[in-house]
Amino acid sequence: MIILGVNVDHVATLREARKGTEPEPVFAAGLAIMGGADGITVHLREDRRHIKDRDLRLMREVVPNELNLEMGATREMIKIALETMPDMCTLVPEKRQELTTEGGIDMKANFSRIRDAIKKLKEGGIPVSLFINPDERGIELSARAGADMVEIHTGYYSNQKGKAARKELERVRKAVSFAQEAGLQVNAGHGLNYSNVKPVAAIDGLRGLYIGHSIISRAVMVGLKKAVREMKGLIAQAESGR
Ligand code: PXP
Repeated sequence: MIILGVNVDHVATLREARKGTEPEPVFAAGLAIMGGADGITVHLREDRRHIKDRDLRLMREVVPNELNLEMGATREMIKIALETMPDMCTLVPEKRQELTTEGGIDMKANFSRIRDAIKKLKEGGIPVSLFINPDERGIELSARAGADMVEIHTGYYSNQKGKAARKELERVRKAVSFAQEAGLQVNAGHGLNYSNVKPVAAIDGLRGLYIGHSIISRAVMVGLKKAVREMKGLIAQAESGR
């Protein structure tokens, strides 16, 4: 069965909009797990714009299944990972100004840096996945660099419609099969939502899907009516007790 890792960065983004204490990403992680999530993903960015070191520490204490730490392959992040011991690390390229991770790792340009990062993490006992574009060269280099898994970038597929989407889906399908043949476990993610997830989930050989934005967005929509009703209830209670 394909596992679902839920990315709760977006809950932290909402908290940081007020620099306050709510919503609490750790509570969101608990609710996601109660809903059936097989794991929780957090991306600790260099600029700490959403998830903070404290969130990662608390997640490690409370997440009972797979805690996936997404991170750039920097010395600082490798040290944090080895201290925190998530169940796996997903290495991503990280640009400071990007809104979200924009593309997969350029394995050709970063081969030795990624290989060294994988070595350190694996020596510390942490399995490593690489976020890469759906192309054979990147997959081949990921296997050579010692990765345990790859996460195929589905953003190109998610951004398209109709014929173009079908073409991108085919690229993802081929990449999954090529990565399997290269001996890697294969995940996929980025931009998957309630309208486009099914064709990806139907691909044979996928280990897991990693989804964030669409799930948190839907949570706002399905929860808003209840939240307003609760506020109205409090106001009505206060009015009647005046
Ligand atoms: N996988 C990776 C490597 C990512 O960087 C992200 C975004 O944080 C996701 C999956 C989830 O993408 P989305 O939020 O679009 O579902």
